Amino acid sequence: MSFRALVVTKDDEGKTHAAVEEMTEDRLPEGEVTVAVEFSTVNYKDGLCIGPGGGLVRDYPHVPGIDFAGTVEASDDGRYAPGDKVVLTGWRVGEARWGGYAQKARVKADWLVPLPEGLTARQAMAVGTAGFTAMLAVMALEDHGLATGQGPVLVTGASGGVGSVATAILAHLGHDVAAVTGRPDNADYLRDLGATEIVDRAELAETVKRPLESERWAGCVDAVGGAMLARVLGQMTYGASVAAVGLAGGPHLPATVIPFLLRGVNLLGIDSVMQPYDNRLRAWERIARDLPMDKLDAMVEAATLADLARLGADILKGQVKGRVVVDVNA
Ligand SMILES: NC(=O)c1ccc[n+]([C@@H]2O[C@H](COP(=O)([O-])OP(=O)(O)OC[C@H]3O[C@@H](n4cnc5c(N)ncnc54)[C@H](OP(=O)(O)O)[C@@H]3O)[C@@H](O)[C@H]2O)c1
Repeated sequence: MSFRALVVTKDDEGKTHAAVEEMTEDRLPEGEVTVAVEFSTVNYKDGLCIGPGGGLVRDYPHVPGIDFAGTVEASDDGRYAPGDKVVLTGWRVGEARWGGYAQKARVKADWLVPLPEGLTARQAMAVGTAGFTAMLAVMALEDHGLATGQGPVLVTGASGGVGSVATAILAHLGHDVAAVTGRPDNADYLRDLGATEIVDRAELAETVKRPLESERWAGCVDAVGGAMLARVLGQMTYGASVAAVGLAGGPHLPATVIPFLLRGVNLLGIDSVMQPYDNRLRAWERIARDLPMDKLDAMVEAATLADLARLGADILKGQVKGRVVVDVNA
């Protein structure tokens, strides 16, 4: 029985091409669990894997899609049985291995988690890797002492996937959220998600000579990195933490160590890919509890496999707002 998948190929000149193709099950990679995929999403990394590869894709032809939700169709592992609803994020699925942009996927049982109680498969992928990572960042800030009433929490790259979900979660938890965006047209969207202050990206785009500025932020979820992260470190309140999630603004960190030494600022690294199972469950439970579903609905755009080539290019240009849910069966 054949099924549809988005297949990326590479030509002799090294150029990649993405197209929806018919696929047979015998071409799926090895793994204990075969999943009938229902929904996937578009994350920044997906943009790289649909397009230029970004050093992430090992072999071509490749099926991208770094996350998916669906129903177990066959399983050689005692933890999962046909009919079970499951979610996958990370483990380099969709990068080094074939991923979720297909009506079927085959993966290791260790990489799956049961669909969190209270979420549908579509909602789980509206959250996706970006939203899951936003929750990991919020949990890390809390584990390092963030509580409400300490002052505003900054979210950079706020109208992107990580930023939108982080904004909605933090606002729901009772924090004042300052949302940094380079797209002023998205101010109303961010206010609707719960942001109380909109900060123009240009205001934080450059490093300054002074390593310490006025103390402004009680916490930060940073999806941007680069000069903006360096700048923000000097604006954190005493003992506050920044959760470094992304590099939408670049991988380099032109910072000094002064904020760490004189203000006890913490820089917390957030990785969603190799996250241990127990913490994955904890993050999904928190998402089901602390991310209001009406806010999630407001940030979602619906798409199909045929839309992915365009959306992959858009997300690399920073032009996707919020989250995209891909119905692989539409
Ligand atoms: N650590 C992990 O495990 C993990 C997991 C998921 C994602 N990530 C990373 O997190 C980042 C965000 O992912 P995403 O899926 O949310 O992507 P996204 O939807 O494209 O969001 C990124 C946002 O950053 C802002 N931005 C884009 N280019 C910028 C620039 N040059 N300077 C400053 N701001 C810029 C834009 O927001 P505005 O238009 O509002 O300014 C954009 O919407 C990516 O770097 C991704 O690789 C890491």
